[in-house]
Amino acid sequence: MKTAICPGSFDPITLGHLNIIRRVSRMFDEVVVCVMRNASKSSGMFSMEERCEMVRRSVARFPNVRVESPEGLLAEYVKSFESAVVVKGMRAASDFDYEFQMDLINKKINPQMETLFLPSSEKYTFLSSSIVREMARYGADLTGFVPDEIKTDIEKKALLWRGK
Ligand code: PNS
Repeated sequence: MKTAICPGSFDPITLGHLNIIRRVSRMFDEVVVCVMRNASKSSGMFSMEERCEMVRRSVARFPNVRVESPEGLLAEYVKSFESAVVVKGMRAASDFDYEFQMDLINKKINPQMETLFLPSSEKYTFLSSSIVREMARYGADLTGFVPDEIKTDIEKKALLWRGK
């Protein structure tokens, strides 16, 4: 069985993430979306539990996609599969340095681990979770940026942030 692991912090999941997950789900038998902590990002908008729940709702239509939230290092988690590759979306050259460094670090921990980079759809190269958080903070319409299933969650959280 060919398994792909799509890791990310998903705070929150965007249509760019979903586009990558959908395309990966057509290429692999099974896709495990891993909601994980990124130590270089601060506490963020949503708790890990909230992020997982929103990702689960967003990918519910894909029968071969499941969501996990492993603690610890991605490279260690990958060891729990007989053979699995990690797939990450690549939006622009600016993503490359970081992803390349991550791959080198992950390989030091788990030399068997392979990471594939999938170019993002042109439609979503501009999109990131941080852009979505910024838009939500100012009450902008998130249609076309995040899955419809989670729009209200973000709007509600943004209202809390704004103290309304
Ligand atoms: O969506 P992101 O923030 O680019 O995803 C980064 C993520 C969560 C995949 C990365 O930070 C990660 O793998 N976190 C788990 C801990 C880990 O393995 N860190 C990298 C080696 S130190």
